[in-house]
Amino acid sequence: MRIDTAAGSILCDPWVNPAYFASWFPFPDNSQLDWETLGQVDYLYVSHLHRDHFDAAHLKRFVSKKATVLLPAFPTSEMEDELRELGFTSFLRTRNEEVHELDGGLKIMIQSLTSPTDGPIGDSSLWVEYDGVRLLNQNDARPTDLSTFAELGHVHAHMLQFSGAIWYPMVYELPQAAKTAFGKQKRDRQFDRTWRYIDDLKADHVFPIAGPPCFLDDELWQFNDIHGDEGNIFPDQSVFLSEYAKVGGTNGVVLLPGSVAEITTDSCETTHPVPVDEFFADKVAHLEEMRERKRPVIEAEKASWRHPEIDVLKEMKRRVEPLLEESVYLAKGVGGPVRFDLVGYDGESVESIVVDFPGKEVRPYADEKVRYRFRTERALVEHLLHIGEVDWVNSLFLPCRFSAARIGQYNEFVYAFFKCLSRERQQYAEGWYDEHERSSDAEDVTIGDWVVQRRCPHLKADLTRFGIVEGDQLTCQLHGWRFDLASGRCLTSVGHKIRAHRAETPAS
Ligand code: FES
Repeated sequence: MRIDTAAGSILCDPWVNPAYFASWFPFPDNSQLDWETLGQVDYLYVSHLHRDHFDAAHLKRFVSKKATVLLPAFPTSEMEDELRELGFTSFLRTRNEEVHELDGGLKIMIQSLTSPTDGPIGDSSLWVEYDGVRLLNQNDARPTDLSTFAELGHVHAHMLQFSGAIWYPMVYELPQAAKTAFGKQKRDRQFDRTWRYIDDLKADHVFPIAGPPCFLDDELWQFNDIHGDEGNIFPDQSVFLSEYAKVGGTNGVVLLPGSVAEITTDSCETTHPVPVDEFFADKVAHLEEMRERKRPVIEAEKASWRHPEIDVLKEMKRRVEPLLEESVYLAKGVGGPVRFDLVGYDGESVESIVVDFPGKEVRPYADEKVRYRFRTERALVEHLLHIGEVDWVNSLFLPCRFSAARIGQYNEFVYAFFKCLSRERQQYAEGWYDEHERSSDAEDVTIGDWVVQRRCPHLKADLTRFGIVEGDQLTCQLHGWRFDLASGRCLTSVGHKIRAHRAETPAS
């Protein structure tokens, strides 16, 4: 998205090239826009380092290096470092949730989310005001609520994510019926969360953005929402409009690449390169045409992944064992071995490697019970080791080029650990969990028949707003985590106990 005002232009998350081992492509295709012109901007805003937001090749080639980067206040300097590498030199290091006045009366505020589960250690939203018009590009950030923005005055345009951007449940080795049921739950939850955010802000116009991606490699084609699968987690913008209409939403605006929306305090006029309805009616044809056109790009990427000279076990030992050694909270949170089955180039031979969290070592699999098992191509891991990737969630899991099985519940610490394969990131994540473990969450509230701690044990959502109690179970609607109130046990993930007891006088 590019925001143009008389006081300057801001280019937001220009993503064009495929991300995550050529798995995700932007849909609709935006590669044929006039990027030479679009890249001539005054400001650049990149919400976070996920590769479907931070497209290094595109930033390098097309975005003016005279642009000032509006930098979120993230705990590590990685984003600034990477942008400097690409040639950017002018940075405005914003302060979290503070309005900054730029030249010509343009005002911006960036809210940075910094828990280890937010993006690749950090995600953010951009608020902009010019000439009385206010816009929130919430993107795919998930703040607990939008009050920080609402307090700055009525918002006219609200851009937010509504679709899926994860590998769950598709990659799990589950019977198809279970996968469909979990997928459907997830799809419903994504929409519920979106309605809640929209309701929080009550903007004049709502723009569904930030996904879904499309999958053009034949191996991943089934993930596109074109097969009538009600458990598909990647509904598109046209589905958003019809679902939104069911809950009474009439102010949704869909933009295609090349669409322009002129927003004033009392109107929103849009022009589109082709009629939006027609475009989505032809979605399968568009995807098939893209698939043919992008085939060489995918093939070229695939050819670059193999590094047979790398001894994966040895290299993983060298990279991961020092981190295991230093890890306290993450290693304890994982609490068991995690197995990687690496499929060789022939598609059949398998090397099994275990990251043993209690034993603090990386070693060959020893016919044991493991907490998680991931099965993927050896070449992908070779490539990550070759480039020294520090975030395997960003790069190995988001591509969806793997299958997974687990014993027991979802374990967020597994993903937090593999997102933090550098000392800097790991220290940050360890410190974050340490602080949260210590912080006493003293305030209790009554919800239905129960007195519970006010803040969700997951990421501190206010349960007076997000908590729904049904019988003895509480669901926090921010990410859908469930808790058994009688025992306090979290039913969604390991750890994260909730404090709760039955109310003597139930709340009305
Ligand atoms: S904050 Fe994530 S489920 Fe409650």
